[in-house]
Amino acid sequence: MIIPGYTPHTKQRDFHESDAMFRVLVGSERSGKTCAGAHEDIKMMFRARARGAGKHAGRGWIIAPTLKLCETAAGKIVKIAEAIQKEAAKKGLRFPIKTRAWNTSPTIEFFDGKFIIECKSAIEPDRIAAETVDFVHLDEYGLMPQIIFEKCRTRLLDYDGRLIVTSTPNGKNHLYQLYLAGQDPSRPNYESWKIYVKDNPIMTDEKIDRLTADMDKSEYNRRIMAEFSDPELTVFYGFDDCMTHPMLLNPLDSGQYVMGLDLAERRDYTAYCIMDRRDFRVVHMERLADRTFFPWRRIKRHIYKAAKFWRCEVIIADATGVGAPVCQDLESWGLNVTPFIFSATSKKQLVADAVVAFNEGVIILPLRGSCEIAEILHTELSQYEARYTPAGNVSYGHRAGNSFHDDMVDCLMLALHGCITGAGQIISHEEFDFDCRDPGEYREEEEYEKLAS
Ligand SMILES: Nc1ncnc2c1ncn2[C@@H]1O[C@H](COP(=O)(O)OP(=O)(O)O)[C@@H](O)[C@H]1O
Ligand SMILES: [Mg+2]
Repeated sequence: MIIPGYTPHTKQRDFHESDAMFRVLVGSERSGKTCAGAHEDIKMMFRARARGAGKHAGRGWIIAPTLKLCETAAGKIVKIAEAIQKEAAKKGLRFPIKTRAWNTSPTIEFFDGKFIIECKSAIEPDRIAAETVDFVHLDEYGLMPQIIFEKCRTRLLDYDGRLIVTSTPNGKNHLYQLYLAGQDPSRPNYESWKIYVKDNPIMTDEKIDRLTADMDKSEYNRRIMAEFSDPELTVFYGFDDCMTHPMLLNPLDSGQYVMGLDLAERRDYTAYCIMDRRDFRVVHMERLADRTFFPWRRIKRHIYKAAKFWRCEVIIADATGVGAPVCQDLESWGLNVTPFIFSATSKKQLVADAVVAFNEGVIILPLRGSCEIAEILHTELSQYEARYTPAGNVSYGHRAGNSFHDDMVDCLMLALHGCITGAGQIISHEEFDFDCRDPGEYREEEEYEKLAS
């Protein structure tokens, strides 16, 4: 069946014609990745039904970094499905579609519920449950933790399912590895392509000019030239080598624990990191569900319990904006809270400390593969970047847009800050001393300084 309004351009066609188990379509912004992906989703659904979905309840997943991007992809699928429905009706055929729960997690039901396409956000990898699926579409995989791919791949085995990736590059991360696998003739299960915005018939020169107007060179290279590298933006190096020890289940008797706490803005996470100030080892890290689903009351209770359990000497807490009242409450419950205000200057110092800690290898981070948190932290650290304003100022954080998170990095840096500055530490005899000099000596010193300057 011809779907009206879509004539795939050459590279989109190559992508549609391949039957590789893993297909990776990398491209510049507005080159037609999601659009090609959405058409392919529908195609994979019909294929799955031909292979037996229908006997079992057919299921496909579309996963995007955020709910918002999920909705974009879901919207495209519904449009395509409606176009098919119209064409089918002309031939007297039925193609029933129903959509559900649009604003939480969009689900589209086909064939009176016999096949469903669920759209999920990658924000909580835990929610990618152990179901068997007929296909998976990862939209903007470059912005998700690597673990999503691994999780989905095992879900596909039973039904000989297919996985497609549509994404803009994001440095030499896991998407790049997948792209390379697709270029490697010795790995026939993988195929990959690159498409560009100028391949898209609806993108006129004028539209492209508008799209690129405010981009600096590295943004242009990544978002328009679909290049994988942008090393000048990278902030952290060397953290891989610090990921050496799994986290702990219980506090050690000898441990001296400091908590770094990053409180969520609207759609972000609250995250905390507990570090032993003796060896700068991360012993526990957690990220609490999206603010949308988690009221402050519960967040505060959770933090209180964690701080008590780990016997934290001090909590270095983000007290910017919404954080301030939360800090006050935690303090009134008897926790030792040191508020930290994020500003351009204070953040610069936090980042500088972390850069040094990674380079010198004096920090111990969760071992990769030992837990999901380690993967998420790794992704966040590799995506953390410096942004330079035209005035020459620098700001740090995750990449613009709400597809990225840096809550884990922030709480890690706060914990490190607590350990370095010795905040919350009990005063020791070394800090306590009398100055036994004769007042005359001070005067001499002052005069000497005057002379010297
Ligand atoms: N082959 C095509 N023919 C016509 N329009 C297309 C084609 N491919 C993409 N488009 C349109 O181009 C726009 C950008 O496509 P989209 O898939 O959202 O881009 P990307 O995901 O690469 O940023 C959308 O409006 C889409 O419908
Ligand atoms: Mg897209």
